[in-house]
Amino acid sequence: MNNTFAPQTALACDNVSIGYRAGNGILSVVRNVSLDVRPGTALGLVGESGSGKSTLALALAGCLPPGGIVTGGSIQIEGQSVGGVRVGRSRLEAARRLSVVFQNPAAALDPSRRIMAVFDQRLRLLGMPSDQRRSRAAALLDSVKIRNVDHVLTCYPHQLSGGMQQRVVIALALANDPAVLVLDEADDGAGCDRRKRDHRASENATTGTSGGLVAHLPRYKSGAQAL
Ligand SMILES: Nc1ncnc2c1ncn2[C@@H]1O[C@H](COP(=O)(O)OP(=O)(O)O)[C@@H](O)[C@H]1O
Ligand SMILES: [Mg+2]
Repeated sequence: MNNTFAPQTALACDNVSIGYRAGNGILSVVRNVSLDVRPGTALGLVGESGSGKSTLALALAGCLPPGGIVTGGSIQIEGQSVGGVRVGRSRLEAARRLSVVFQNPAAALDPSRRIMAVFDQRLRLLGMPSDQRRSRAAALLDSVKIRNVDHVLTCYPHQLSGGMQQRVVIALALANDPAVLVLDEADDGAGCDRRKRDHRASENATTGTSGGLVAHLPRYKSGAQAL
């Protein structure tokens, strides 16, 4: 089929079901989720605790824990398949185009390492030459609206506020220029104003990146819903 005129999709889930192996069977956790995120747009997913939001985020990143299994449907990032039972090169390549900031992102920062050291490691793993890493780290922090970048790079995590730590982690997640950024309750516990601010910061960070904000809202009782 000729898809030349089909709108480009950053992230597409079609009828995705996910479960965890339990005994001889599979406990179904996510059932028949379909969603579509176009480049440069944001999508919210809400659901009560335990409705499968984090499980879906893990599946999108191609990193379900042992026992986790995509039992049906398809996940595509920029048209490349991620979901599925087999772990193949194309699935891993596709997953690299998506970054996830998990719940309690500040816990992702090693308390014994300065922020620049964290960026240095991340950018080295991405293959960036050492002489370019500092300016790239500064640009990433700038993109999430951190003002005193030079100072922040010299800090240990405990020297930063919770909100600043969250921005640093979002900046780290943007280091690979992902097509899709998934925030899994990344601002859990934050006040409403800070949620809005952090979300805006991540939204504004790169123009081409699509955002997925996974939020826990207790009043939604009937499973996870896309907004
Ligand atoms: N590693 C795991 N093994 C088995 N069951 C799990 C695992 N992780 C999560 N679950 C179960 O999957 C369901 C969905 O969990 P989760 O995706 O964390 O929901 P949410 O993020 O919406 O709170 C829960 O019932 C939870 O107990
Ligand atoms: Mg969760």
